[in-house]
Amino acid sequence: MTRSVLSVASETVPLVKTGGLADVVGALPGALAPHDVAVTTMVPGYPAVLRALVDGMVIHVYPSLMGAPARLVAGTVAGLPLIALDAPDLFSRDGGPYAGPQGYDWDDNWRRFAALSRAAADLAGGGTRYPPFDVLHAHDWQAGLAPAYLRFAPPRRAPAPARVTTIHNMAFQGRFGADIFPQLGLPDRAWAIDGVEYYGGTGYLKAGLEASDAITTVSPSYAAEITDPRFGMGLEGVILAHQDRVHGILNGIDGTLWNPETDAHLPARFSARTLARRIENKRALETEFGLVTDHGPLFVVVTRLTWQKGMDALLEVVDHLVGAGGRLALLGAGDAGIEAGFRAAAARHPGRVGVRFGYDEALSHRMQGGGDALLIPSRFEPCGLTQLYALAYGCVPVVARTGGLADTVIDANVAALAADVATGVQFDGVGYHPLRIAINRTLALHRQPELWRRIQRNSMKCDFTWARSGRAYADLYAKLAP
Ligand code: ADP
Ligand code: GLC
Repeated sequence: MTRSVLSVASETVPLVKTGGLADVVGALPGALAPHDVAVTTMVPGYPAVLRALVDGMVIHVYPSLMGAPARLVAGTVAGLPLIALDAPDLFSRDGGPYAGPQGYDWDDNWRRFAALSRAAADLAGGGTRYPPFDVLHAHDWQAGLAPAYLRFAPPRRAPAPARVTTIHNMAFQGRFGADIFPQLGLPDRAWAIDGVEYYGGTGYLKAGLEASDAITTVSPSYAAEITDPRFGMGLEGVILAHQDRVHGILNGIDGTLWNPETDAHLPARFSARTLARRIENKRALETEFGLVTDHGPLFVVVTRLTWQKGMDALLEVVDHLVGAGGRLALLGAGDAGIEAGFRAAAARHPGRVGVRFGYDEALSHRMQGGGDALLIPSRFEPCGLTQLYALAYGCVPVVARTGGLADTVIDANVAALAADVATGVQFDGVGYHPLRIAINRTLALHRQPELWRRIQRNSMKCDFTWARSGRAYADLYAKLAP
């Protein structure tokens, strides 16, 4: 029997992406198809989504959804089923999915994502002309109210689909005031400690966790970490209370988009057997970033510029990295202060530090294919995808030992080198000294070309494509919706 899943999120590749959430949501349909699970993706009808939707058919009309006229439009994108919530008052705007062109979050995000969640609950529960779904799978706080609507205010014909919430990042919880609660259309009994109430306000992610049959997060280590206040960030109590429903399922990578043998973004394509070709990519990258050529390693960074990613700590250690013989190429988007810091570092070290700000998908591929080592000093990392791309591309990951980074990289310590299984470098804690030591260790490994190639080959052998994790989600759905 084919199981049907409605996967609801605020972003998906190839249409809207600010981070790894989009990669995962975009990959799930393909990951689940071999397991007889049909995933339909549902996202807000941002202009880019409506433009890309092929054969769109209106399947439901809301005269007023959270105060805005709206329609559900079903079609396909890249051959995969996708349903958009077309509500121009809410989603037809310049700027990003969460913030305006100046970078400030939209004031009405609570309304925008409550609307998305209400419509998802209607759709999954058979409240529209579309067939109901076996499972509603909500991603992050933006879809957090969807399971809560199914629990507290189900659509009329509710056959009760199973409810799953995936936490991609505990740092974003969708916290709003208590004053919005009456506008959500939930019954009074939902305002409870095991409902949507959260420290006196309204908590969207909290509501989703409380209303779900299963809670998943994107790596086994992060699943354990979020029981600790430092990582649970206020929700650790909820996680502890529901430990028996919490699962850590590692993200995979989409091998059709991220494969160095076929990647059209790379000047030179290569495999573990033809590693020598990488040098062409490295030279092209040096030219692109205005860097000198020498024998030292080219460190690369591809990231959101935020506190989570430890970029402030990297700034402190840039001078050391350069002084010790490394070079740095950084692609980042986000915090203006951090951006200014890297601009200043590039000015201090012409030819040795190069920076690009903004979002550039093609360049991110070229950096993975040409950099020697990818630096990821994250303070927390639910899964992390860039280290998985780095492993596949022979760009040695140098990572903080946390969350998914801890689960996917094997540190090149003496034991791992002796067993010939090392795939990268790990360090504990994020700050000047741990980073300085990790950079020194990387430089020392890079000075031994034979050893370095072995680490690259080991990393390229790792299979972090979706096969294993697709099966884990399929097993979970089967258990919840037998
Ligand atoms: P997060 O979702 O926390 O940002 P992940 O490592 O899971 O971290 O995913 C980040 C995704 O976004 C990866 O696909 C990465 O290549 C991409 N990315 C991040 N910053 C940029 C950027 N400035 N330009 C292009 N791609 C980026
Ligand atoms: C979040 C996390 C990242 C994870 C991604 C996809 O953005 O920060 O670690 O890989 O979601 O699950």
